Amino acid sequence: MKNIILIGFMGCGKTTLGIKLSYRLRRSLEDTDKLIEKKEGRTISEIFQTDGEAYFRDLETECLEKMLKTTRHKIISTGGGLPLREENRVLLKELGTVVYLRATAQTIYERVKHDKSRPLLQGEDPQEKIRTLMAQRSVLYEQAADVIIDVDGKSFDAILHEIGQAVNR
Ligand code: S3P
Repeated sequence: MKNIILIGFMGCGKTTLGIKLSYRLRRSLEDTDKLIEKKEGRTISEIFQTDGEAYFRDLETECLEKMLKTTRHKIISTGGGLPLREENRVLLKELGTVVYLRATAQTIYERVKHDKSRPLLQGEDPQEKIRTLMAQRSVLYEQAADVIIDVDGKSFDAILHEIGQAVNR
């Protein structure tokens, strides 16, 4: 059975929906950010601060390569920047069914505006940063996706239902 992989911008709900989906489908859950933090023994913020974003991106690729060898029949939630590398988009497709949780920049801003754990959004103007990153990334998320689900204004239950229908098709 194929893995189900959740991708999308920071704050789109990958982690929360991953947990709920894993209960609902009785499959265990992996989260690439958590696997990377565990392997490195430090937080994502510390990795960015000490070794920079490029180093973190290498860790994401490494994590996908490892999962490809070991991970079956799971729910996998991912870091928001993981699908940026073409190499990672190819690995994602090999790893399972890729579900893109699509949200508008406004929804994302409302959800992450008080968050201190995301290094990319700690600058002067997070709203502008979200807009810029979203403009660069949207097309890449769409390329990576097997299924696209618009999440704005929907309850978790409604989104879970849509994911369930899409992956059973
Ligand atoms: C990132 C998203 C984060 C985390 C890192 C970089 C990104 O994960 O991987 O801070 O580039 O969008 P979440 O999407 O879970 O916040």
